[in-house]
Amino acid sequence: MKTLKIKAPGRINLLGEHLDYNHGIVLPAAINRYFEFEFSTLEGSLFLIEALDLNEKWEFTWTELTDSTTNGWMNYVKGVFLLIGFTSHPPKALHVRFKSNIPIGAGLSSSAALCCGLAFGLNEFYQLGKTRHELALLAQQTEHEFTGVKCGLMDQVASLFGQANHLLAFDCISHEINSFELPLHSAKLFLIDSKIKHNLAESAYNERRASMEYAWLQAIILFPNLKSWRDIKGDQKQQLLSKLDRITSKRLTYVLDELVRVQKVQHLTKDLTTCSNSSEAEPHLIALGQYLNQTHLGLRDLYEVSCQELNFLQQAFTQLSGVYGARMMGGGFGGCLLVLASNDFTASVAQSLMMEYFLTYDVYPAWIDVQLSVGVEVF
Ligand code: GLA
Repeated sequence: MKTLKIKAPGRINLLGEHLDYNHGIVLPAAINRYFEFEFSTLEGSLFLIEALDLNEKWEFTWTELTDSTTNGWMNYVKGVFLLIGFTSHPPKALHVRFKSNIPIGAGLSSSAALCCGLAFGLNEFYQLGKTRHELALLAQQTEHEFTGVKCGLMDQVASLFGQANHLLAFDCISHEINSFELPLHSAKLFLIDSKIKHNLAESAYNERRASMEYAWLQAIILFPNLKSWRDIKGDQKQQLLSKLDRITSKRLTYVLDELVRVQKVQHLTKDLTTCSNSSEAEPHLIALGQYLNQTHLGLRDLYEVSCQELNFLQQAFTQLSGVYGARMMGGGFGGCLLVLASNDFTASVAQSLMMEYFLTYDVYPAWIDVQLSVGVEVF
């Protein structure tokens, strides 16, 4: 019996939030939280997919697949199976078992990891010859068509192209990917899971995207030679903002500010690589922390994708000694706070803060250590 095991990670994003569908450069990394899949051949014509953590399974024949009514994880499975482009029809039957330690709805891209790992496994198993870039696009298309979330490409790229101890600079226009190290010296990144997921997350995400597409149409009417948001120069910004309604103008202000912050943080990360010790690194870490804080404020007040629980955490963490900065991370409306703090900052330092959060919101936040890890791989 042929078997294949695949690991597919979730991701963090240092900076460039909501920039992947806004012509930006984003700075994500795959992390040490992942899906594990086992693919094996099956006799007969039934496909059997098992979600081990949920104790759920789904059996289908190839002809049933298109007409099947699905929800939850099955939407992703259905999408990947239908979009991957099997070379023989029907493909040989298959048994897939998977489990995951990526918290669901925490903004760590568990859905992208599911789609990328499944697509990568099918590609290997059936020798379909697709590239990682094609698999990323396919995983994104699955979310667009089978769950209705018009996501960008950041999560899929991070999951498929991640490298151990590296972040990626993913150019969302050219699709160029450059990996780079982030030597934090005496500091570290970690996550605090707010354990909150508001149900407007998906509709509001699509609404943000639509409002930025509207802003872009206005921009090219005004400046026909504009190629992307990156080209907005000098007083073009004010001219354009004054043409937009108040809400769209706030959204665009966030995007233009974040594009600039990403550039600055790219310089900062280069500066960090030249530091030979912690005291040289300190001013850069302080600056990096401030950019994280600024991004949080932009996401909170201008792009309006945060929520009170994340704002509580962000404010409380950034007041603690040893924390350089923190921001909500991912699509928003819940999920995780990304924190940059000194190495000796531990969960016990944050204990009373976490308790206060629990007493206010009736749910205990989770501390998640983060290691930058390799992308989807056979193991
Ligand atoms: C979600 C989407 C990504 C990206 C982020 C926000 O994770 O799937 O494409 O837009 O939100 O940066």
